[in-house]
Amino acid sequence: MRIALYPGSFDPFTNGHLDILTRAARIFDHVIVGVLVHPTKKCLFTPEQRVEMISEVIKDLENVRAIHFNGLLVEFCRTIGACAVIRGLRAVSDYEYELQMFSVNKQLAPDLETVFLMSATQYSFLSSSIAKEVARYGGDVSALVPPVVQAELRKAFAPPQPGKPT
Ligand code: PNS
Repeated sequence: MRIALYPGSFDPFTNGHLDILTRAARIFDHVIVGVLVHPTKKCLFTPEQRVEMISEVIKDLENVRAIHFNGLLVEFCRTIGACAVIRGLRAVSDYEYELQMFSVNKQLAPDLETVFLMSATQYSFLSSSIAKEVARYGGDVSALVPPVVQAELRKAFAPPQPGKPT
């Protein structure tokens, strides 16, 4: 049984992430989407909210599930029995960071492979930060994120209602 981990912040999960995940799910028997619980980074959504959104998005993908994790990626891979880590590559600018992560993980766990999938051209510009930026200013994110994420972004950036506690 070939299990892969698709890790990330996913704050929030985008159509670019979904494309990589769907393709990875065709290669591996099982893919676990691992949502990192950041000890310091300020995220828009809690790990629970992110896992909930992703679980809704992947409900039709039979061999995929989402959970959150703390700590070292290699330890989490050991816990779930993953033999590979999936990462998406959008542009040359991703390369340096990905090479650094790959190298650290290889040092810590030589048997663990990282499998890079190139982003589809239509998502090569897309990131969670860009999706949040567009949503923050009321732009249309329907081409950028799945519908459930779109709804949560709308809620997160809704103007405060007078008389309602924020
Ligand atoms: O989507 P991101 O934020 O680029 O994902 C980064 C992630 C979660 C893959 C990376 O930060 C990670 O693996 N963090 C867990 C801690 C760890 O193992 N660090 C050493 C390898 S960089």
